[in-house]
Amino acid sequence: MRRKVIAGNWKMNKLPNEAIEFIQKLEPLVKDTKNEVILCVPYTDLFYAIMTAQGTNIKIGAQNMHYEEKGAFTGEVSGEMLKSIGAEYVIIGHSERRMYFAETDETVNKKLKSALKCKLKPIVCVGESLNEREKGIANEVVTKQTHIALEGLKDSEVSNTIIAYEPIWAIGTGKTATSEDAEKAIKAIRDEIAKMYGQKISSGVIIQYGGSVKVSNAKELFNMPNIDGGLVGGASLDVEEFSKIINY
Ligand code: 13P
Repeated sequence: MRRKVIAGNWKMNKLPNEAIEFIQKLEPLVKDTKNEVILCVPYTDLFYAIMTAQGTNIKIGAQNMHYEEKGAFTGEVSGEMLKSIGAEYVIIGHSERRMYFAETDETVNKKLKSALKCKLKPIVCVGESLNEREKGIANEVVTKQTHIALEGLKDSEVSNTIIAYEPIWAIGTGKTATSEDAEKAIKAIRDEIAKMYGQKISSGVIIQYGGSVKVSNAKELFNMPNIDGGLVGGASLDVEEFSKIINY
């Protein structure tokens, strides 16, 4: 049985004092959950969040990293830097990074390899645009993104990678994929992983759904056979709402 993993992606929200307060409030609300709880916070909150979450079941991650270990890359942060302050997870290839910051399938693949080398646990995002969904090529798009992202990994590295299926048209729009559509896309991603790395590896990979996850739709989505939890944006900014999604 795969575990359920519920991760919050705060995007560019919350100052360190807000992060500390949030985690202190969240901790008693989720301490008994069997589900894995992750918060991916802005770089400037990371250290405070990691310190506050110490000794709790809340794990902390970043939202991006550079693929090089070090060097003349002004403004960038490496995987080793994240690991050195105690970050456990890192989101890679979020659609907002693909859209606004020229992230490509190829840079996603490089970042994934670099994250795994640093022993960070990556959450790799894939997802189709509205146009691609309307053209009927959604599953083709996400399987291609998955294929390029995962190319050249060791089996054990694939097993340590989380995939988040996030249809772009569902992000921050209040529109959610139906649980059936999300299940179909996630099944297509799992089948692609099986083609690349075999059924056994594929059946163990955690694949989340993301895109307007709320208390009202979490249960239906997370109860689908191939959906192993969610990557939650807006609803992870509110501690009550997020705790209810975790305890769906
Ligand atoms: P929303 O939950 O705000 O739609 O965002 C989803 C997302 O982008 C999570 O990474």
